[in-house]
Amino acid sequence: MSAGPQATVRLSSIEANAKTIQGLLGTDCVPAWVVKDDAYGLGAREIAARLGKGRERWYAVAFPEEGAALREAGVESRILVLQPPARGEGPLFREYDLVATVWGEESLEHLKVPGKSTPGSKTALHVEVDTGMNRGGVAEEDLLDLVEEIDRRAVFGLDGLYSHLANVRDADYCAHQRRRFERCLNALRATGRSPSRIHLCSSGGIRLGPEYHFNMVRPGLALYGVWPVETRGGPPLREALTLSAPLLKVRAVAAGEWVGYDGAFRADRPMRVGVIAAGYAHGLPRGFPQRGAVLVRGDRAPCLGVACMDMTLVDLSEIKDASEGDEAVLLGRQGEDEITLGQMAEWMDCIPYEALCRLGGLCPRRFVD
Ligand SMILES: Cc1ncc(COP(=O)(O)O)c(C=O)c1O
Repeated sequence: MSAGPQATVRLSSIEANAKTIQGLLGTDCVPAWVVKDDAYGLGAREIAARLGKGRERWYAVAFPEEGAALREAGVESRILVLQPPARGEGPLFREYDLVATVWGEESLEHLKVPGKSTPGSKTALHVEVDTGMNRGGVAEEDLLDLVEEIDRRAVFGLDGLYSHLANVRDADYCAHQRRRFERCLNALRATGRSPSRIHLCSSGGIRLGPEYHFNMVRPGLALYGVWPVETRGGPPLREALTLSAPLLKVRAVAAGEWVGYDGAFRADRPMRVGVIAAGYAHGLPRGFPQRGAVLVRGDRAPCLGVACMDMTLVDLSEIKDASEGDEAVLLGRQGEDEITLGQMAEWMDCIPYEALCRLGGLCPRRFVD
């Protein structure tokens, strides 16, 4: 076992989730697996290697550098960059054959490649249209002007149209966004244009049904094992990330003694206190112990006080046989019990997305089948 915390990414679970998600899609609908921000901290290159690096696949990243890193790792798949390009990034998109998201004419300016363009080679674009999230994307009323401008500049090819749902918990608002999206699509088609990929849904939207799928979806969180919204009847997924840390020390603490920093916990009885090798440097919020617990020998040991930078104190009073060197599980299964990502996120006072990014991104990672 590692001397510090260990994040373990189970690639077979990710592969199984991909199959489960694909089972919800029609045969003409292609997933663009969202592996942005290093696959929410789980490891984009390793995940792409497992899911497939071939041209038939699609991946989505946030920034072009992430796409370039995937290419350098041998990924030949199509790679959609979800953030609009920044000034001067044109050559990067061109060199690494990345598909750019366009929010307006400014995006086209930023994609310019100095010097003469190679005949026949175009930067593929997906236009994001805002249908009610009010975050990114071209406004509906500016969409046709933008695509005309794309046509005028011969170095770009319109390959996709997409939008993003703001609140998958609100079925009415989703339907409103879908109607607006369809209106945009129809307006585009009425001008004779038919982008090959049309997409609206991330993980939560996929559950809304096939009328939301068009011919592409962008699942992220579900790939890593969690549906973003608790809805009944969804196919089960497998959580791909687990986290453990060794128990460094077990000590007896007398009643009335303070435990850890800042007088945040005082023993009201004689206790056995354990020290585990994970702290806020590894993504646990300092206040995590006030709510959280870890599994030791299959039982829950409540955390105590406040997290230190790379240690956290736990109450082992009820786990009599716990001893130094034991593995403490912070996320995942041990014996009959399991700490799920949803539970962990609650204790971290965040959402599962954040919990994954922090824990997967900050803890040393290993990949297992
Ligand atoms: C534009 C866009 N598409 C897809 C996703 C993936 O979302 P999810 O992880 O909920 O599937 C995100 C996530 O932030 C996003 O911003």
